Amino acid sequence: MAIQLEGKVAIITGASSGIGAATARAMAKAGIDVVLVARRRDRLEEVAKSIRDLGRRAHIVVGDVSDAPHVKIALDEAERHFGRFDIVFANAGYGMERPVHLMEDTELRAMFEVNFFSSVALLRESAKRLCAAKRSGHLLMCSSCLSKFSMPDFGAYAASKAAQEAICRAMRFELAADHIEVASVHPVTTATEFFEQSAQRSATQGGSVHEHAPKWIVQSPDRVANAIVACLRRPRSEVWTSHIVRFSSALFTAFPWILDSILRREVKRQRRRRAHS
Ligand SMILES: NC(=O)c1ccc[n+]([C@@H]2O[C@H](COP(=O)([O-])OP(=O)(O)OC[C@H]3O[C@@H](n4cnc5c(N)ncnc54)[C@H](OP(=O)(O)O)[C@@H]3O)[C@@H](O)[C@H]2O)c1
Repeated sequence: MAIQLEGKVAIITGASSGIGAATARAMAKAGIDVVLVARRRDRLEEVAKSIRDLGRRAHIVVGDVSDAPHVKIALDEAERHFGRFDIVFANAGYGMERPVHLMEDTELRAMFEVNFFSSVALLRESAKRLCAAKRSGHLLMCSSCLSKFSMPDFGAYAASKAAQEAICRAMRFELAADHIEVASVHPVTTATEFFEQSAQRSATQGGSVHEHAPKWIVQSPDRVANAIVACLRRPRSEVWTSHIVRFSSALFTAFPWILDSILRREVKRQRRRRAHS
């Protein structure tokens, strides 16, 4: 039987744009009240207004998820405003496009701080509070299809996403007896600000989502959001929105030489293109 979502309370990080904002709206449509976390207040306020227009309650928490007190602040705010929380989606994250050997140590650590350590800290503290209150719950982390295979220039990012998946897999079993579901979310290329932000951080040209993937593979954040809400209704271990990419990632794991030969050709093609431009 599907789980009823009406009246539940969710905390979403990275809720000021893209997948986080779309998920907040999809959850509101399903009857969930939301706590929205990110650094850009004006963007959070816009999302909060759209939630209220849908007839649900929204509360914003402005801050950087990599600031240690932030986890406690977000959970305390949810409990103070709504009396509890049931769902936590650790979604805040960013990418960088750079060969691994050219990344600064500080850049690598900063990315892991936001994508990995902050997400783990949030789910860990959420789990502790739910267990202490003997409440069931649903914890999710926004990983990526790149948790299963890596790409040139996205090695560090893919590593942070693989680490997220590994943590979710363990937590799923550790918390099952406490009736706490844990899922990792594996979007494929999604039309958000992600690629512009990534190009800006990496000081590279371009940044349009369509420079990174053929049009047919690019998905809307709403598609990811709807898959997440479907997972809340009928829990599963991993949320995917592309059968082709999911199947390919299994194939690449079993036969890594397939991806190797595709990527070798792609890297050569890109080098030729750069040499001629
Ligand atoms: N787009 C894709 O193709 C794709 C594919 C697979 C996985 N993902 C994952 O999906 C998640 C959401 O990304 P998106 O595609 O929706 O990109 P996005 O539109 O750039 O959203 C990223 C969100 O993370 C927040 N954020 C970043 N750093 C933060 C920090 N230090 N503290 C608090 N919030 C922070 C941003 O808010 P503020 O700037 O306001 O703080 C923003 O709301 C990420 O984890 C990403 O790795 C994306």
